[in-house]
Amino acid sequence: MKRLNWGMIGGGKGSQIGPAHRIAAGLDGHFAFVAGALDADPAAGRAFAQELGVAADRAYGDWREMLEGERGRADKIDLVTVATPNATHYEISKAFLEAGIHVLCEKPMTVTEAEAEDLVLTARRMGCICAVNYGYTGYALVRHMRAMVARGDIGKVRLVVAEFAHGHHANAADADNPRVRWRYDPAQAGVSAQFADCGIHALHMASFVTGQDVARLSSDFASCLPSRVLEDDAMVNFRMDGGAVGRLWTSSVAIGRQHGLTIQVFGETGGLRWAQEQPNQLYYMPLGQRLQVIERGEGNLSPEADRASRVTVGHAEGMPLAFGNIYRDLAESLLARGAGRQPDPAVTLFPTAEDGLRSIAAIHAAVASAKAEGAWVDARPALFR
Ligand code: NAI
Repeated sequence: MKRLNWGMIGGGKGSQIGPAHRIAAGLDGHFAFVAGALDADPAAGRAFAQELGVAADRAYGDWREMLEGERGRADKIDLVTVATPNATHYEISKAFLEAGIHVLCEKPMTVTEAEAEDLVLTARRMGCICAVNYGYTGYALVRHMRAMVARGDIGKVRLVVAEFAHGHHANAADADNPRVRWRYDPAQAGVSAQFADCGIHALHMASFVTGQDVARLSSDFASCLPSRVLEDDAMVNFRMDGGAVGRLWTSSVAIGRQHGLTIQVFGETGGLRWAQEQPNQLYYMPLGQRLQVIERGEGNLSPEADRASRVTVGHAEGMPLAFGNIYRDLAESLLARGAGRQPDPAVTLFPTAEDGLRSIAAIHAAVASAKAEGAWVDARPALFR
């Protein structure tokens, strides 16, 4: 099997999301971790990359050095993951795409809609993949939920209710923690904190599961810690282009809530609900029948769920394995390109720059609506209107 070369920017020692990417990329043996600029501190980044087994000449001090080092190599990286704070995503992703290197960018993909649109167009122009890590869509039962909705198991979707509420930024004494502070600093996070950080996972999942895009929204933002310029709690009502009604709550001050990502979809003939903290069960209620618990790994699930499932029924699979499904889809896409064959159609489920752009437009729409006391606004990106 041909192995692909993989590099990472950000995700340094002690970072939140770096380890999940490294586990996920290494899971199926498709990617070799060969290059990295892992930390804002160049010396710490070089040292940590070598600790993880990256060769000294590819353990870079910063992303520009990495781009220069990699672009000239015959064995240059095929895919780079960008897992730095939000405001840096655009510049880094654009530079690597322009060098012909495929990108998996963390969410939110960019800060402005113009930047997001530019990444969509740059990826198209360069013929490169620019994926966005809405990694929770890699869970087998989220993919099964999507398949059930698409094949009509709950009939026409009436209502989708999404939440992403945690309590990890509720302590006012912790507001200066460097891993918390940047998320509420407009210079580093952009125009929105909690909605851009977590809410958009839930909003994207609502689209992923229903197959509908968000058309309009109305929002209410609050900074429950008064020192924060950006919101730490948001309620967003939305309407989807297929007619579904949407409700979304996101918070970082909900003490006692842990990860808190849940999705519920209610159709004319049934309902579905899934929670990320119990990802191996999906609850299905067909109208007028009894509640069913669908277990990940059991027989007769959809091909999408079977493909995303790795260990046998009854053994819990978790978040790095869901991210692993994004990496597996990317590997299959890249290997197919390299071999001049069509990829397995099932791999088209990974989120793309177009999804990233829809999210950025929704973030800006939500901010505008909150400023206008909840006025309904168009949430579609200009490129897709
Ligand atoms: P963090 O603050 O825990 O870690 C950031 C890491 O990036 C640190 O190691 C830091 O030294 C490094 N870094 C900062 N600037 C850099 C630069 N210019 N070059 C190289 N390294 C740099 O942040 P966290 O939570 O890991 O978030 C990173 C990104 O991942 C954010 O965009 C965030 O929104 C996203 N994220 C996504 C999640 C998901 O579920 N998909 C979950 C958590 C975060």
